[in-house]
Amino acid sequence: MMAADRTVPAVPPSLSAKVVGSFAYLTVRDRLPTILTKVIDTIHRNKNKFFEEYGEEGIRAEKQTIALLSKMRNELLTDKPVLELADELQDTQSWNLYLQRQQDLQGDQDSVSWFKSPWLYVECYMYRRVQEALWLNPPISDYDIFNEGKTQSFFESQQAMMTLCTYSEGVNKNIEELSRNQLLEHFNKLLQVSLWGNKCDLSISAGQDNSQKTSPIDSLNSLQPFILVNDSNMVWAALIAAQRPGQTEKTTAVRVDIVLDNSGFELFTDLVLADFLVSSRLAREVHFHGKCFPWFVSDVTANDFQWTIQQTVAANHKWMSKSGVQWKSHLKEGVWSYHDHPFWTQPHEFCDMEADAPDLYATLQGADLVLFKGDLNYRKLTGDREWAHTVGFNTALRGFAPAPLCSLRTLKANVQVGLQPGQGETLSSQDPDWMTSGKYAVIQFSSSESDRKD
Ligand code: F6P
Ligand code: MG
Repeated sequence: MMAADRTVPAVPPSLSAKVVGSFAYLTVRDRLPTILTKVIDTIHRNKNKFFEEYGEEGIRAEKQTIALLSKMRNELLTDKPVLELADELQDTQSWNLYLQRQQDLQGDQDSVSWFKSPWLYVECYMYRRVQEALWLNPPISDYDIFNEGKTQSFFESQQAMMTLCTYSEGVNKNIEELSRNQLLEHFNKLLQVSLWGNKCDLSISAGQDNSQKTSPIDSLNSLQPFILVNDSNMVWAALIAAQRPGQTEKTTAVRVDIVLDNSGFELFTDLVLADFLVSSRLAREVHFHGKCFPWFVSDVTANDFQWTIQQTVAANHKWMSKSGVQWKSHLKEGVWSYHDHPFWTQPHEFCDMEADAPDLYATLQGADLVLFKGDLNYRKLTGDREWAHTVGFNTALRGFAPAPLCSLRTLKANVQVGLQPGQGETLSSQDPDWMTSGKYAVIQFSSSESDRKD
């Protein structure tokens, strides 16, 4: 008998709103309609702006967009079948093929509905349908319905950003003299700041006061017990191992890719980490991957990325503004680059990337380390499935191995793998919401395929 028969668990079902009372169910029943209502309200509140910019055409587009969104909201609430997209954009065909695939899997067209399908699919689909409503209505097609929230979250976190830039300045001014151990210490801190940046976003979106009262660096010690898996030593080892033979820290060719998540404080922490990586010469290049259109309320688009750097340059704080200038020059010199790809705004599990987006997979293969930020990326890495908590991360990745990779994620959805036996049970008894509250986090690493073992 083959060993694999005993060790590889069957692929579990996708999380779905069909499980009444589950987090997926509550999200589809309550959260998604609320988000849609807010989107409709935002468009309506901007009616005058559309009129000023586009005259009667703008008003017509506003009305028509709202009608399409209300129709979708109704389809969701009454669990209607998922419909094909009607716009003609670069990803339309791929979305419609995906629907076809779901229909084939479920065996009948009507069962691919909002509550009966995989949660990951319908949640992604909702954001794509919002775009469809806008794209079918030029001249307001390019309007970013989530821009107000993203801008606000940036300004609310200014104090914490200034503190971080002051820390960064302290590191950068002596960077040439730092020993490898000192670099490791700063690396660990900035990796964790970037990790918890993903938590801050959740409190912003829940409407709580998010202005960071304490320094993000000083909070790290007290947050330590909430990191359920901490593979940061392996992340560091992967960076060091990536130095090619004969290269020194001064001539490194290491490339780190960061698959971004949210705008606001989280993006800022990612940029601070990326600046440290190149300033310390742990990496030669950082490639950022963002979204092609507004996504999951606060995710980074190309506009958000450029805007954040501009705002940092313009900040009324010496070290913050200096950081912004430095970041701008990284971009200008090609040390940093921003990329987007339609695959990031599709519903696929990442194990499908090699077959469904081979160009993106090949791009990631050029990296020495890929950092995946946030909860949604974790759901896609693990397929958003009902895995047992003790199943290994590599098993849940199901062959997705373009390069050594690490997930930096605060838990906001009920999928978590790679825990110790009993760890999940203990957490469930002490804190029933541990998987969805954003209070816990993981730094979870997987090497490239050849030396993986679970
Ligand atoms: O709160 C749940 C949720 O909407 C999930 O659907 C999604 O995975 C997550 O929030 C988004 O979080 P993040 O921005 O970390 O990907
Ligand atoms: Mg997000």
